[in-house]
Amino acid sequence: MVLVNLVLNALDAMPQGGELTIAARSIGPHVRISVSDTGCGMDEVTLRRSTEPLYTTKPGRGTGLGLSIAQDVLRAARGSLDIDSAPGRGTTVHLTFPIMGAIHV
Ligand SMILES: Nc1ncnc2c1ncn2[C@@H]1O[C@H](COP(=O)(O)OP(=O)(O)O)[C@@H](O)[C@H]1O
Ligand SMILES: [Mg+2]
Repeated sequence: MVLVNLVLNALDAMPQGGELTIAARSIGPHVRISVSDTGCGMDEVTLRRSTEPLYTTKPGRGTGLGLSIAQDVLRAARGSLDIDSAPGRGTTVHLTFPIMGAIHV
């Protein structure tokens, strides 16, 4: 579900099309899954507020729950959600979590 939400966000950010990349790699005892898009990106305020429950820039469409729930899920798995984004340069959301933890999620 977390990945589905990230993919939907990426598609929303690329109404004119673009490139969606999903990568996974291991970093010691952790796995990092990164979802990148070449879409609109986020300004500083949006980036800071994006994981707040109910924060959305999609009036009438967005629930503002996708990133907030994703962050809760990652924290429950003793992991973290980090976002790299800049206006016009696209967005990458990194999900990092322990391999052992993942087995029990
Ligand atoms: N890949 C992305 N590119 C640009 N903006 C994004 C991206 N993902 C999230 N956002 C921003 O973060 C906000 C919150 O995202 P989310 O919690 O998934 O809620 P929603 O998608 O329902 O608006 C979005 O409204 C959007 O402004
Ligand atoms: Mg969303």
